Amino acid sequence: MAKHTSDLAERAQASADFLKSRVSESPRIAMILGSGLGAIGDQLDEATAIDYADIPHFPVSGVEGHKGRLVFGKLEGVPVVVMQGRSHFYEGWTMQEVTFPVRAFHLMGIDHLVVTNSAGGINADYAPGDLMIICDQVNFTGQNPLHGPNEDAFGPRFPDMSDPYAKELRELLHAVASEEGIAVKEGVYAGVAGPSYETPAEVRMLRTMGGDAVGMSTVPEVIVANHCGMKVAGISCITNYAAGLSDTKLHHDEVKETADRVRETFTGLVRGLVKVLGKT
Ligand code: 6GU
Repeated sequence: MAKHTSDLAERAQASADFLKSRVSESPRIAMILGSGLGAIGDQLDEATAIDYADIPHFPVSGVEGHKGRLVFGKLEGVPVVVMQGRSHFYEGWTMQEVTFPVRAFHLMGIDHLVVTNSAGGINADYAPGDLMIICDQVNFTGQNPLHGPNEDAFGPRFPDMSDPYAKELRELLHAVASEEGIAVKEGVYAGVAGPSYETPAEVRMLRTMGGDAVGMSTVPEVIVANHCGMKVAGISCITNYAAGLSDTKLHHDEVKETADRVRETFTGLVRGLVKVLGKT
């Protein structure tokens, strides 16, 4: 069969070429920061910010608390690029659009992806403010970003997903956490489509089916990153109890407040990871 080529590869290449032309050094690590967790992007040295709107073909997200820009710069002396704000499936973007930046990063030569998100705690041992190293995910969105003809330029038709959050990076995260005295959990991220939060019955279902935390992002990006052979590290900030685990109603304000509260430990963990990765 002839190799499939679509204009997706061309568009991602155009984005990558544009970005390469704007920065002196291609980073090794890309970071996608979730709701209220974008602080790291403001802490980069020698920073260059580029609005998504100025990057060819980039989806431009408009969620509150998300800035919608890339910041290139150095963290702990290591060149990185940070996505401040991401587009979500619930906004109406296709999964292919949501994951477009990951493909552009891959074509820039970036081989490590750090994903962060805020999530609701499903595991009874979790409390708001906990940080969870993501060890695996369950795709409950009913969609897959690789649906359709395979993008041969990026990876195989049936990509392996046996180490979606690379074991070596999980071990590094645990090492950093214990060195810096940061308490962490490790668990499975259940990714749903949203935008409505889950019902108590849905939360019980997600728990039975292996989820420790639930959120509306990350799963598509991690599938596409694995498809193109990137190594992924993921951290969830447990911002609230999922429905049915507490008496309070869910509100996005609580998500932002908790993310604000753990900002420092959270950024410490990410900084520590980048520092050790920079030495490898
Ligand atoms: Cl409880 N559910 C989902 N889907 N996303 C969340 C959340 C809950 N808390 C933060 N993000």
